[in-house]
Amino acid sequence: MLIPKPARIAAREGRFSLAPGMRIHAPGASSIVDLIRPAIRSRFGFDLRPAEEEASIRLELDPDAREIDPDGYVLSIEPRSLRLRASTRPGLFHGAQTILQLLPDSAREAPDLACCEIADHPRFRWRGLHLDVSRHFFDAERILEAIDWCAMHKLNVLHWHLTDDQGWRLPIESFPRLVEVGSRRLEPDGSVHRGAYALDDIRRVIAHAARRFVEIVPEIEMPGHARAAIAAYPELSCEGEPLPVPSEWGIFDDVLCAGSDSALDFARRVLDEVSGIFPGRFVHIGGDECPKARWAECPRCRARMAAEGIGDLGNLQGWFTSRVGKHLESLGKRMIGWDEILSGGSLPPDAAVMSWRGFRGGIDAVHRGHDVVMSPTDHCYFDYYQGPPESEPPAFPRELPLEKVYAFDPVPPGIDHASRTRILGGQANVWTERIPTWAHLQYMVFPRLCAMAEVLWSPAETRDFDDFVRRLRRQEQRLDALGIRHRPLEPPRA
Ligand code: ACM
Ligand code: ZN
Repeated sequence: MLIPKPARIAAREGRFSLAPGMRIHAPGASSIVDLIRPAIRSRFGFDLRPAEEEASIRLELDPDAREIDPDGYVLSIEPRSLRLRASTRPGLFHGAQTILQLLPDSAREAPDLACCEIADHPRFRWRGLHLDVSRHFFDAERILEAIDWCAMHKLNVLHWHLTDDQGWRLPIESFPRLVEVGSRRLEPDGSVHRGAYALDDIRRVIAHAARRFVEIVPEIEMPGHARAAIAAYPELSCEGEPLPVPSEWGIFDDVLCAGSDSALDFARRVLDEVSGIFPGRFVHIGGDECPKARWAECPRCRARMAAEGIGDLGNLQGWFTSRVGKHLESLGKRMIGWDEILSGGSLPPDAAVMSWRGFRGGIDAVHRGHDVVMSPTDHCYFDYYQGPPESEPPAFPRELPLEKVYAFDPVPPGIDHASRTRILGGQANVWTERIPTWAHLQYMVFPRLCAMAEVLWSPAETRDFDDFVRRLRRQEQRLDALGIRHRPLEPPRA
């Protein structure tokens, strides 16, 4: 009844029972024990006791266990012992999540687990959830919850969409007006939508994620989707005119001026701070949906093209992106961007591409030697309806039912083996134009995220939708026990 389904599982006779004060021995893995104990306490009302010596529950970190995948684990549950082994701490953590799923959700049932042997590891390295906090702001406590959703589903990336036209949410010391001006917008009904994180919030989120082996990938959109930044600093745009933070959705013509040295300098200095704040390797620079109308009319952009020998406006975005990419490289970071970053100009070799307009961009990128995260709209856009629109809450006017998430394969047909290894994985994207509340967001995420987790973790050959739905009935109880709202499953098919 596990989600995601483990790579290998064999049932054994008997059950292993937890009991108050039972000892848990976990040399070098006390931080994982510190996450398990409160979960046990809140479900069953008793504590496990950390022990220095041998105990019936053992978590073994064995860096020399080369037979175990770095993200994987081996779990052996017998009537008198529970043994979890991994070669890394993330591996142990994933095994701990499996243990928590094998246990009941509350003291209404006995605190025991069916005996079994599990040998498990993920299919993909990048198992992500993207969250847009620009269109609607969600505070740090909510982001901690989203990290917990990732952890319980063995997802390991939270892609945090921190800036867009309708709001800038990340404090940047060198440019205080980004938050002062860019985090507020006037709504058509006269109300103000506002929100930004304090640096302490960001640090709390990073620490919470780190303890759960989730990498935060911050996204700073450039050169398009930058109206909030332009509202704060109008000189960043081609025309330099004051513009408000917009309250309508869409794609806006006013973008960062690619001919302006100070706009490029702005991008670099913002990325300097972002790189200092976030410890992960990847920084996402957006790059999608950047209209060229202003650049076409802008004397500075024209002068840039002449000086750099750039023949067309598409390549001007490529030029901008390659400058930003070089800068990130100098900071020891890897650039990742939406698939538009592939057009024009050269990317640093270790830049990665996030393919959203279908698989095409991802396929081109792997053939050009770049790593890729697949996130095509048809399988991964959780702002789409989950069912017939007349019976669903407001959503983007397209449909993405659970089956279609489950049918997602990040490796499209025709990819050769060498290129296959460049597909890091995939992710679900939650755009929030039409999602103003956290309860609504939970409903859009679940149970589709459970399907995405299985796509990204479990072996492709074990996929079986009907079997998944049977296990999802148990997962639904887990979500209910945690107070996580979700779209209810339809009654079983006759
Ligand atoms: C996107 O959905 N514009 C990346
Ligand atoms: Zn310009």
